[in-house]
Amino acid sequence: MYTSLALIVVLARLIPPLSILSSYSDSTAKLRFYHNSFNNYTELNFKDAAEIFFTSWYDPNKITVVFTFGFTGEPTGIAVTTIITGYLEEGKKNVVLLNWEQLAAATQSNFANSYLNWAIPNSIKLGFEFADVLLNLSQAGLDLNKLHLIGHSLGAHMFGITGYRLAEKGMKLQCKKESVGVKVRKGMLRWFGHVERMHDERMTKQIYNAKVDGCRSRGRPRHTFHDQIDHLCNHHRCWRLLRDALNYPGTLIGSWAKNFRSWKNYSEQEKKAVVLELGVFDLKAARGNYFFTTKAESPYGLGNEGL
Ligand SMILES: *[C@@H]1O[C@H](CO)[C@@H](O)[C@H](O)[C@H]1NC(C)=O
Ligand SMILES: *[C@@H]1O[C@H](CO)[C@@H](O)[C@H](O)[C@H]1NC(C)=O
Ligand SMILES: *[C@@H]1O[C@H](CO)[C@@H](O)[C@H](O)[C@H]1NC(C)=O
Repeated sequence: MYTSLALIVVLARLIPPLSILSSYSDSTAKLRFYHNSFNNYTELNFKDAAEIFFTSWYDPNKITVVFTFGFTGEPTGIAVTTIITGYLEEGKKNVVLLNWEQLAAATQSNFANSYLNWAIPNSIKLGFEFADVLLNLSQAGLDLNKLHLIGHSLGAHMFGITGYRLAEKGMKLQCKKESVGVKVRKGMLRWFGHVERMHDERMTKQIYNAKVDGCRSRGRPRHTFHDQIDHLCNHHRCWRLLRDALNYPGTLIGSWAKNFRSWKNYSEQEKKAVVLELGVFDLKAARGNYFFTTKAESPYGLGNEGL
């Protein structure tokens, strides 16, 4: 389990410099704005995205959640379907999918190559671009202080770049309106999944680490990249946890810790000192890692018992 996660981190460090990234047509990444159901949506190119504000899609009283998938993700894949229908059934959010299916696909001769030379460079480029799209949407009426970006896996890295870029731009905006920059930086991003530090401290982020009971690696060791990807039990568990967080509010609570080792050694009191509920939008939340224990099957959450 830990080997496979480590692999992703190592590969992520091999990102080529921006200047030699493969080119692609911007129009292939889209925003899918859901209306009343999973199959009823309006999908717009980045450059046209603000048109959604000419429709009745946006409810300014609601938090807007933008979800995106990782490498080889699909807009009707199980992870996306699970998360999006979860939010739609909850009915409390404006729900958007950043659909970068072609740019996240395994297009090259093999899996590792597609990841390194296609999906990763694309995610970086899109991450930057999406910051501009959000600023456009904000001009059109989107409240950035009620924006919750949730990325899975490589999608989380992408949104990290978006957050970083927005913070950069936010600093420029600060001379006009300070609170925007600050709030965006502190409260915008909620990540989930097993994403290790890739871009350092400058970005706001919340990473949830679950100690997953049913997910121990068994059987033969996995040697190839394809094997690793295929068997990322934890990797797939994390979006199931997010869905559970929607279905069973209050059951998935993490306690803040610098790392797993220090969390493991926490006293009861220390575990309860700084907590955050998975998936909850909290502008005041401390950024960093949150740890919790789960059951092996859904409903996974153990509430305070899981701290
Ligand atoms: C899809 O959503 C639009 C906009 O909210 C609504 O007018 C329409 O009735 C919906 N269509 C269906 C089939 O539910
Ligand atoms: C912002 O919106 C304008 C039109 O309103 C569009 O021409 C431009 O491409 C958009 N920029 C991005 C980054 O989407
Ligand atoms: C764990 O906690 C105990 C008691 O608080 C302390 O003595 C010990 O050094 C800690 N171990 C680690 C690895 O932090």
